[in-house]
Amino acid sequence: MTEQKERWGTRIGLILAAAGNAIGIGNLLRFPAQAGQNGGGAFMIPYVVSLLLFGLPLMWIAWTIGRYGGRLGHSSLPGMFDKMWNRPIGKYLGVLGLGLPMVFCLYYTYIEAWCLAYAYFSSTGQYISTPGSSVDLAVFYNEFLGNATSHSYFPSVYTALFFLIITILLNVWVLARGIVKGIELLAKIAIPLLVLFCIILVVRVLTLGTIEGSAWDGLAFLWTPDFSALANPNVWIAAAGQIFFTLSIGFGSLECYASYVREKEDIALAATTTAATNEFVEVIFGSMIAIPAAAIFFGSSQVQSIAQSGTFAIGMISMPEILRSFPGIQFFGTIWFLLLFFAAFTSSVAVCQPVMAFLQDEAKLKRGVAAAIVGLIWVLGTIPVIFFFKYGVFDEFDFWAGTIGLVVLAIVEVILFSWIFGLNKGWEELHVGALMRVPNFFKFIMKYVTPFALLAIFIGWASQARLTPNPRILWNVADRSNYSGKFQMDPPNDEVHQIQQSIYDEVNSANRDLTAWAEVNLQSDGNLQVTSYSADPHLEKVFDKSRFERWLKLQNFRYEVRENNGPPRMQAAQITIGLEALDRSPYIWLARIIIIGFFVVFFSMVAVIWKSRANGIKQGGVA
Ligand code: PHE
Repeated sequence: MTEQKERWGTRIGLILAAAGNAIGIGNLLRFPAQAGQNGGGAFMIPYVVSLLLFGLPLMWIAWTIGRYGGRLGHSSLPGMFDKMWNRPIGKYLGVLGLGLPMVFCLYYTYIEAWCLAYAYFSSTGQYISTPGSSVDLAVFYNEFLGNATSHSYFPSVYTALFFLIITILLNVWVLARGIVKGIELLAKIAIPLLVLFCIILVVRVLTLGTIEGSAWDGLAFLWTPDFSALANPNVWIAAAGQIFFTLSIGFGSLECYASYVREKEDIALAATTTAATNEFVEVIFGSMIAIPAAAIFFGSSQVQSIAQSGTFAIGMISMPEILRSFPGIQFFGTIWFLLLFFAAFTSSVAVCQPVMAFLQDEAKLKRGVAAAIVGLIWVLGTIPVIFFFKYGVFDEFDFWAGTIGLVVLAIVEVILFSWIFGLNKGWEELHVGALMRVPNFFKFIMKYVTPFALLAIFIGWASQARLTPNPRILWNVADRSNYSGKFQMDPPNDEVHQIQQSIYDEVNSANRDLTAWAEVNLQSDGNLQVTSYSADPHLEKVFDKSRFERWLKLQNFRYEVRENNGPPRMQAAQITIGLEALDRSPYIWLARIIIIGFFVVFFSMVAVIWKSRANGIKQGGVA
């Protein structure tokens, strides 16, 4: 006999676990970054429309499929899809619900590990500036991840690796304890703490006062609608992507959690409550911390460029920068990163549970064994993410799993539900045991609007895919920690792009990384000279001393210091710059092979398991 089918212990436990699944890095970092990058207020209209057209319908569909599958003994998608579509292909489509979360968790847990590490760095005051020495948080962050050629703050990526291993062990431990004693208990502890931490930080931000701007400027930036941006398809694509990511749609994870409910659980209500809780945390807390803080400290004109610097730059560079300028950084910094860590922790266990469930329900492994296998794949799979971070393995995983893959799975799922399983049957299934009724017009949305709109989004995304990656250019100032200010550059213009393109071509023909070194004399009036220069012969052909100097000038390369929160001021410096042009192709292909590898393995497992089951039935056994 296999282990007894697991179930959530209590209804509140179910809701907290489901909220924990949805609430994650997406709410507190990705949302403000996406909103900021896509014009602030302009983003909110497509965002709400996406919630209604994709978010809620797919949420109800996922919960329905989940409970239905769970009732028939399956907590992962191959078994669920097999029961919905009695053709061999059904179960194979379900493999998406194993491969995608497995790839996703490899880089998502890494972010989780950074948060844990930064909570530790905050509590020990590691990046707090002392008079005469100031930690450049951007360099600190990049060195921590091995995303730099310098080693001023971290000798290697082993610190990151150490925190990652702790994070994975914590996750595996929770998974091995099972649904009630592991995931549910974690959610019961983590979610209330998360809300408490959010409140502490919101109060902190709102009481920072006014420096370059006020908290209000940040909120106004997010909430003043700009209708002109509605004509930009990229804003729509970004908004839909955010809804998917934040609600955990398209990974098989919601279905898995829903499979552990009781047979008559009101899933229409549970799904709606989960979505509402997630949106509350995202829209209220997600917009009241990072963006207002940035507006206070850097001024509202800078908010957009901070958001443009990306999800992680906001969380790991701007936020600690802001917080450390006020009393109490050790406390508030720690709270900020613990908040992110707990949010991510309750999501990462949710991402891995489908694979756990597959190994238990279908491969008939014991829970502890399943957890050990998942843990092993996890550790091995993250090795390239860590060691080849600067080559873009992390981003490659994010592109295929977190941007493209989830849409593919959602398309498969909505078609399966509305067209193959049958919308009427599905609608009835959704409402079994439900007091809440989903308004009928959502039937129309599920059948026609969601699938076709999703296809359009998919085409939009797929057209952004680049099969051969560009090389990447990295530069670093040697002995960075000797300088208390910041080295700054303006964004590249057309001429810089041309120079970069010639470097890319050279890297591609040499098929390896190319490097250069230069001594540069920076003056406080902005003038600069390259006093000595040496480069790989390949690079020297297109990027010699004078071109290098031109490259720096075109981008207005400078050294700035900031005193007592005043405006930045230029200073003279004599520095050594190292430059690397990285050949990313081999690592990107490695990442792709890993992704394909996961799919091949899960595919074969499904084939073997179903075949042996069929043989069992033929020989008169019980399926
Ligand atoms: N929804 C999570 C977040 O907002 C991410 C996630 C995706 C979690 C898929 C589980 C499954 O960060």
